[in-house]
Amino acid sequence: MERHSISTGVLVVGAGAIADLHVAALSTDPRSRLAGFVDTSGERAAQAAHRNGGVPWSTDLAEALSWPGVDACIICTPNDTHERLAVQVATAGKHLLVEKPLATTVPGARKAAEAFAGNGLTLAVAHSHRFYDYARTVREEIRSGALGRPVLVRLALLGSWIWPDWRAWVLDPARSGGHALHNGVHLLDLVTWWIGSRPLSVYARGQRRTAAELDVHDYLEMVVRYESGATAVCEMSRAHRPAGYSGRDVVVQGTEGLLTLPWDGEGPLLTDERGTAPLDPGVAYGFAAQLGAWLDALTAPPGPAATEAGVGAEEALLAVALGVAAERSMALGRPVDLEEVL
Ligand SMILES: NC(=O)c1ccc[n+]([C@@H]2O[C@H](COP(=O)([O-])OP(=O)(O)OC[C@H]3O[C@@H](n4cnc5c(N)ncnc54)[C@H](O)[C@@H]3O)[C@@H](O)[C@H]2O)c1
Repeated sequence: MERHSISTGVLVVGAGAIADLHVAALSTDPRSRLAGFVDTSGERAAQAAHRNGGVPWSTDLAEALSWPGVDACIICTPNDTHERLAVQVATAGKHLLVEKPLATTVPGARKAAEAFAGNGLTLAVAHSHRFYDYARTVREEIRSGALGRPVLVRLALLGSWIWPDWRAWVLDPARSGGHALHNGVHLLDLVTWWIGSRPLSVYARGQRRTAAELDVHDYLEMVVRYESGATAVCEMSRAHRPAGYSGRDVVVQGTEGLLTLPWDGEGPLLTDERGTAPLDPGVAYGFAAQLGAWLDALTAPPGPAATEAGVGAEEALLAVALGVAAERSMALGRPVDLEEVL
């Protein structure tokens, strides 16, 4: 597979809810073009193809991978299929952007990552929150040194009642990996990226709090401890009522200052000994930024620059390990060292 400098033909695998956001991103970047859809449901694949200019579609990934003009894939299928499909894509010699999590187990994530090692192919994992403005603002502020060394991060992402629209696979831990991996991984990855230190342990508690009738931990508290001495406290929910409720709260305590990011539209604020000042978060479409980072990585020579451009295999593997550790911690009722799951 050659690195493309003109237009990368991208096959979208899995034409469900999240695929639409990736397709929208493809239309914003002239370096990419939609090459077709694959879905095990022919009806969904055909409908998605019809909605997007009559591009080709198939229910057979092997067949679609052989179409001319397919250089890369975006996998948007249920979590338990990622490992197998990623290996198939690598074997066919195509680049891959795969939805989070990379796999539902650590060995599975390792196998998927290894399939892309040393063959010139680029694997990126869609930890989309990293590409939202708020997340980038926090990362840049920490990296600038303005806060000193981060010692405590609190991230709360609270969401509304969305289960009626969810497919059964999301509610099945065997398919999703459990809620701490499925959705919690967004927070676990983000705080780790912000703090920039090796995570040592996860202590998590799951509750059936906002949608008790569903057999799923809809409310999660997850505490991560880091080699640097920092602690991250993550709070996540996905079933508040009424529908439409959405809340986010970010606090970063550094040795030199405090960053707060209220969800009230005022934007991020930086407070240090000199006072409080607003930070301009800028405006961007996160999925387009994510796609752009992956396309950057496709065209850059392999190495540290390519790794920085997107969420590479090593970080995605760590994110899976964090989610798996959170699930194990909830089951055992004690903190779980990352070493236990890696
Ligand atoms: N980044 C984010 O913010 C975010 C948000 C939602 C979902 N996701 C992730 O996106 C992925 C898809 O989630 P969704 O909500 O779109 O699910 P969905 O159920 O709406 O869609 C999944 C689609 O994949 C198809 N499919 C299933 N197995 C397949 C296979 N083996 N080959 C081809 N197609 C197959 C299904 O028929 C369905 O159309 C999951 O990995 C999920 O974790 C990410």
